[in-house]
Amino acid sequence: MSVGRIAVIGTGYVGLTSGACLASLGHQVVCGDVDAAKVAAMSRGEVPILEPGLDEMMARGLQSGNLTFVHGAAAAAAGARYILLCLPTPDGGDGRADLRIVHDVVAQIGPLLDPGAILVTKSTVPVGTAQDITETVDRADVAVVSNPEFLQEGTAVRNFMNPDRIVVGSTDRAAALAVAELYRDLGAPSVVTSAESSELIKYAANAFLAMKLSFINSIGALAETVGADVAEIADGMGFDERIGSKFLRTGPGWGGSCFPKDTKALATIAADHHVSFPLLEATYVSNDQAQDRLADKVRAAAGGSLCGVRIALWGLTFKAGTDDLRDSPALAVALRLAAEGAVLQGFDPAISKDVTAARDRPEITVVPDPYTAAAGAAVLVILTEWPVFGELDLLEVGRVMPGRVIVDGRGMIDDETAAAAGFSLVPIGRPAHHIVPA
Ligand code: UDX
Repeated sequence: MSVGRIAVIGTGYVGLTSGACLASLGHQVVCGDVDAAKVAAMSRGEVPILEPGLDEMMARGLQSGNLTFVHGAAAAAAGARYILLCLPTPDGGDGRADLRIVHDVVAQIGPLLDPGAILVTKSTVPVGTAQDITETVDRADVAVVSNPEFLQEGTAVRNFMNPDRIVVGSTDRAAALAVAELYRDLGAPSVVTSAESSELIKYAANAFLAMKLSFINSIGALAETVGADVAEIADGMGFDERIGSKFLRTGPGWGGSCFPKDTKALATIAADHHVSFPLLEATYVSNDQAQDRLADKVRAAAGGSLCGVRIALWGLTFKAGTDDLRDSPALAVALRLAAEGAVLQGFDPAISKDVTAARDRPEITVVPDPYTAAAGAAVLVILTEWPVFGELDLLEVGRVMPGRVIVDGRGMIDDETAAAAGFSLVPIGRPAHHIVPA
């Protein structure tokens, strides 16, 4: 089926995954990026991000000729029927998304577009952006459609190929349906809406999930104090189909490139329109509290003061399965510990370089293996849910680590395993069981 060429502008997580996956569905896809070196590397089949399955998907696309990479937005957009804008929309500093990149690109490519072209916003953009883009392009023969993505880092390829739904919104219903058609082979239901609804759906979905996580984290804090167990509570809640069992795992708070930015942006959108929405503020205040609580546990485990105390950190990324450190709750907790004078040694399976030098991060000495991170430490803290952390040799950890406490911020280790290796475990979301360490 030839529906016309697809241009993808911007090859970050969303653009690259979307481009490679659309090519795998048989579409002709040209991805454009401003970074010439990155374009050259991707053309050789090199994947710039850690994303399971993306390398094979890209290799197949390059080999079949369905997927190509070019330098610049104009080169990709010229002659395309669909132009997917997958550009960064960072926090502008005041809680509002900064749309300068989107508008610059649209102004640049607008005059070059073929008649009948459809501009598709995949970037998360504030309500009204489709309308603004329509005005910037100022062409009656070009439609604008909002088509938000719901990809999770680490499972983006699987999410793309097995979507729960496809959302398309536009004032031009025929254009919206044409965009939905691109995904027809995936068999997901399409939700066809106005542009405004579609734009708001993305924010609403992310803020709702963040709220769900803040809720379970607060239930976890309560469970610790009343002698309950958050995992059991999540089980009991999750079977209720109206609640659902996903996103009920407690931890050191939520983070990543979307939830913090989108929750704040939605709060700003509400405030800008004079709509009171106190749940949003409570959602991120609760998240800060989750990080405070974990730092409190580490301080208590260290005997009341962190000044000069060596702490081992397992996990730095914002979740397992990604090398992304953006708004990582692990780093947020680390920052709190560093501010009180802790000496931090960190290990993360996806981070090999020193984050301090590389990314202007707190004083963490990043080491290449988990045992080196534990060497000389008074307390070991598990911050990211990498499965490997539940499988490591705690006896070996005990040999290199003088301290005898593990603060498990992700529920990776059980009390018996810790005790057998001579550790006491400080869990999250339930009281500590006082097993006498071996
Ligand atoms: C999120 C949305 O899920 C996705 O739909 C959107 O397109 C982009 O933002 P992502 O940023 O990849 O995806 O992260 P996600 O997997 O949703 O996790 C977000 C945070 O919540 C992480 O810090 C994670 O560790 C935390 N989390 C998630 C929990 O603490 N407990 C859970 O049960 C689930």
